[in-house]
Amino acid sequence: MAIRTILEFPHPVLRQKASPISVFNEELKDMVADMTETMYDAPGIGLAAPQIGESIQLIVVDVAKLEAEQQVLVMINPRIISQEGSQVDEEGCLSVIDLTANVKRFQKITVTYQDLDGNLLEISTEDRFAVVLQHEIDHLHGVLFIDHLSALKRTLYKKKVQKMLTEKKA
Ligand code: NI
Repeated sequence: MAIRTILEFPHPVLRQKASPISVFNEELKDMVADMTETMYDAPGIGLAAPQIGESIQLIVVDVAKLEAEQQVLVMINPRIISQEGSQVDEEGCLSVIDLTANVKRFQKITVTYQDLDGNLLEISTEDRFAVVLQHEIDHLHGVLFIDHLSALKRTLYKKKVQKMLTEKKA
């Protein structure tokens, strides 16, 4: 296992549409192990493969009941097949540094996905966990939570990042 570098906005890989996974092999298991280690090291509650530069449809989400525990749900090729209601909750992202903001999401979702052995599974979830899944699945479509904010907030954030990058170079 290895801790991988988390890419940050505006890295172009974060904007790519991730490819579906069709081969369920050791290499994939190794990548999941890396992503899990990287997520807990950050620390974060979810991580999508594009965030470590792998443009494939894979996410890991922390589902541990207690903070000291580690339990990970691995979702391959996840797809939201139904949704209802709406909720607003605060979000942040390991790839969008120095920003948290309220985002409107569906309140309840049903997601189909495959596990590490390629079995097709389905999960229905609501509230905070539904937010996390929508956020991570967005990453597989090249979408970041800032895309859900107003144009003004997004522009302010882009300017802030540009300024940080300029200062880094200087
Ligand atoms: Ni994120």
